[in-house]
Amino acid sequence: MISFDSDSRLFVLDNGSIGYAVYVNDAGYLETLYFGKRMERYDDFTCMRDTGVFASRRYLVPSGEDVAYGDGFKAECAPLELSPHGLSDKRGAPLVVRDGTGSYVTDFRYHSYTVEEGAPALEGLPHAHGDNAETLDILLKDRTREIWAHLVLTIFSDKDAIVKSFSVENGTDGTLRLTRAMSLQLDLPRADYDLVHFKGRWAKERDYCENAVLDGVQEVSSNLGRSSAEENPFVFLKEHTATAASGEVIGFNLIYSGNFKFRTFVGPFRGLHVTYGINDEDFEWTLEPGDDFQTPQAVVVYSAEGVDGMSQTFHRFVRENVMTYRANDVYKPVLFNSWEGCTFHFDTDLILSYLDAACKIGAELFVLDDGWFGARDSDLAGLGDWKVNAKKIDLRRVIDACHERGVKFGIWFEPEMINPDSDLFRAHPEYVLGWGEDELSLMRHQCHLDFANPAVPACIYAQMNEFLEEYPVDYIKWDYNRTVSEHVSRALPDRQGEVYHRLVLGYYSLIGRIAREHPEIMIEGCASGGGRFDLGTLFYCPQIWCSDESDPAQRIDIQFNTSLGYPLSCIGSHVNDSRVAPYDTKAALALFGTYGYEMDPGTLTEEEVSMLVRHAEIYKKYHGDVIERGTLYHLLAPHAGNEMCMQCVSQDMSASLVLFMNKLKEQDEFRFVRLRGLREDASYFNTLDGCVHTGEYYMRVGLNLSRECFPEFSHRLILLTEEKPQA
Ligand code: DGJ
Repeated sequence: MISFDSDSRLFVLDNGSIGYAVYVNDAGYLETLYFGKRMERYDDFTCMRDTGVFASRRYLVPSGEDVAYGDGFKAECAPLELSPHGLSDKRGAPLVVRDGTGSYVTDFRYHSYTVEEGAPALEGLPHAHGDNAETLDILLKDRTREIWAHLVLTIFSDKDAIVKSFSVENGTDGTLRLTRAMSLQLDLPRADYDLVHFKGRWAKERDYCENAVLDGVQEVSSNLGRSSAEENPFVFLKEHTATAASGEVIGFNLIYSGNFKFRTFVGPFRGLHVTYGINDEDFEWTLEPGDDFQTPQAVVVYSAEGVDGMSQTFHRFVRENVMTYRANDVYKPVLFNSWEGCTFHFDTDLILSYLDAACKIGAELFVLDDGWFGARDSDLAGLGDWKVNAKKIDLRRVIDACHERGVKFGIWFEPEMINPDSDLFRAHPEYVLGWGEDELSLMRHQCHLDFANPAVPACIYAQMNEFLEEYPVDYIKWDYNRTVSEHVSRALPDRQGEVYHRLVLGYYSLIGRIAREHPEIMIEGCASGGGRFDLGTLFYCPQIWCSDESDPAQRIDIQFNTSLGYPLSCIGSHVNDSRVAPYDTKAALALFGTYGYEMDPGTLTEEEVSMLVRHAEIYKKYHGDVIERGTLYHLLAPHAGNEMCMQCVSQDMSASLVLFMNKLKEQDEFRFVRLRGLREDASYFNTLDGCVHTGEYYMRVGLNLSRECFPEFSHRLILLTEEKPQA
């Protein structure tokens, strides 16, 4: 898959479907000649230097001469893998190093390369994995100093995805400061794309935003200390004419959970310059002699088959090359969570009554959410004290009751947080993030623990481990209910530029340790709903609570948009008791995710119970083959109109689930929804009208939803099953 031709100095990464070509120019810069659908030949890129858009850069050399490199390097606009910083290229370098003289000039040039089988494992950072990969590691050296950089590119044989990262090593005998350390640069010789990103806030995560790529700079970023609800690290570029099913689309994500910045720059020469990685706001990493710094990995997905081509690659990539939970492809139980039913207000009897009622609606995993520990009767107190509040709950009895009923048991933690009203705070006020300010920003009455100080995650680990040793837990919900402020660590007196990143490393060290030592426990990520929905978290957690908004009125957008970049199998989705939509609409939507419940189950009518049981049965029967391992098609986008339609097809194309929903009321009108991904000549029975049609019919004519009027927020959940000819 990876080759280097030393005559033409051309690296080619080609998996038979996509190609990536990098040329080592006379100056030693790495020029990105091509990224896209694979080509027969990659040695035909003289056009870049013949365009005449700008004169070749000339340099004054020690002999006093004024020279240009023989291959006509256009320093200001050549598509590069790693722009220098502080020279004439002002597009924005991904790496910037300041040395002891104060100079920011950073100028990495080619030195050598290696190619290895597989994908590299990163110490302390979540990373892509898989045997079906090959990795090119290009070593570069700063032109004047012993500073080394590795550009590492991994290509996968079975997916149109490339993983990129940099590392920087201080080979000098002085201290260096890395003031920018991003994961990728991608330069494209055209800028006529639309940029799609996902902004939001609490209970309104991942709102679809699309704009033509701007002249000058545009940034999609988080400086909130977490990947955030405000912007998600998943973004994509699409050519203007691309649709769900056709056209060029390039998707990006970062295997990281902290501050990020996706930056586009279009300058006077119209090329598109992308940099992506850790946000450089307040970032400064000290490299003593011999130290190195590894950036997180960025994932780039190429699709010539529209937005769904990109989404489907991301879905398989996340499941097969990011998630590590051993059971990510085995059945995930129907979950019942106590939070929305009773919040902090419960006792053992109430929880046991919830458990019995939850069993009646098919629950297989019972989760006791917030409120079981310390003095936690409201959000004013208790975070940091991970000891069972025995006066409130007999946890042993609850767990035994679950297991006696064949139901798994799960528990809630929020390990990175502390309430000022807690024993931990009283004993260790210095564990709080901040320099002991006389005024600290509280959010939800809580402070952020200083996970940049290794003693702090160690203390939380000891408490969690003691709990997990005592109680047989099958699942943890790992919450994170505030953003970072006062990003100052008392443990890092002269290295405050490292705090944001070290907080994320502290999170990874703790969750990684818990996951490693308790591999049987499934961990679900959460952050005030979906405020940390990212590939870093998915490395440890096979699912993430998608949003605190479960009402379909808002939820269809959240769930649809999230599934553009993330597989349905990781999107935590529950039926709750919000009043806008009926229970069967909520249940149908929850089926297009990880199905679960969150309500007072005692209030359900008999009719509602039997309806929820029917949906739980659909989940049990079809989730694995159709939703989890199947192929997802986005047929009607809720951000584009009044209707939403998603379809999943099993890998063997024998079964398909279709969910149609509308927002405002709709009259009877022609409404044929064309399906995708079926076998043309196979016959499928559908549960909408009880008819059998060929796959060709469903894909050309469509599923006939014309006959009816649809009240507000109604839906149709349709199952298609292949009718095999009688032998
Ligand atoms: C925020 C989460 O999103 C909720 O589901 C719930 O776990 C609360 N935190 C508990 O405090």
